[in-house]
Amino acid sequence: MSLLKRIEESASYIQSKLGGLKPQVGLILGSGLGAYADDLENPVCIPYSEIPGFHASTVVGHKGQLVAGTRDGVTVLAMQGRSHFYEGYQQADITLPVRVMKQLGIDTLIITNAAGGVNEAFKEGALMVITDHINFSGTNPLIGPNLEEFGPRFPPMTKVYDPTLRRKLLVMTQAESITLNEGVYMMFAGPNYETPAEIRFARTIGADAVGMSTVPEVTVAAHAGMRVIGISCITNMAAGMQEVHLSHSEVEEVATRVRSTFIRVLDLALQVIKAEE
Ligand code: HPA
Repeated sequence: MSLLKRIEESASYIQSKLGGLKPQVGLILGSGLGAYADDLENPVCIPYSEIPGFHASTVVGHKGQLVAGTRDGVTVLAMQGRSHFYEGYQQADITLPVRVMKQLGIDTLIITNAAGGVNEAFKEGALMVITDHINFSGTNPLIGPNLEEFGPRFPPMTKVYDPTLRRKLLVMTQAESITLNEGVYMMFAGPNYETPAEIRFARTIGADAVGMSTVPEVTVAAHAGMRVIGISCITNMAAGMQEVHLSHSEVEEVATRVRSTFIRVLDLALQVIKAEE
């Protein structure tokens, strides 16, 4: 089946479950943040396993369902858990949910992740709003026939992380004395953590944080002309920058520790988007 047909099928299945609900904002919740979707008002939960074309996520700590609901008057469609490239899927497959969001009429995406800090000024537990990214995954979700219905063959990637939304979010977080760093996110395919040499390389070419997600989804969102806000939780300093071995349990532990601040930042991001509409 063609990619476009799969997107249309997924979207119409989700639409049938949503009733009249019209989500305005898409939300991709990374490690430790899944609980944000549990607090949406009047939630409608749709397990990925039920949705044609969706993959069930296999990573520990990721739930694997869509949750539609309202938060502070904004209707969101949240992904509680996501698929990753390192699980063995094609990038066109892991990004299908973003195209489905677009098909459902969603024009703004908030994407979150856990990342390793590369910028020496960062500390574990810091939050970073993504200003730009480096695709070091080795491939690209837009490879293959272009979906003209969504965007052009050669999309520009100059202002992917919406500068206006970012600036407004920084003003709102500053007003509440929440420190939000800014920086460039670099994607490695994973699933191993990087080597210290790779981290020195990442820093040399301009990365502030590294991770194993986000870039494919954001590339597809940019192709479709969606506005994007990306926020990383720096759960650890990257390889060679800290004494202890990197582990997924450390990543989860730190993500959980800063969850309440992260949730506040997400709420402020929703307010910024609401004020724009
Ligand atoms: N590297 C890659 N991905 C990550 C890291 C890291 O150090 N921490 C959390 N996700």
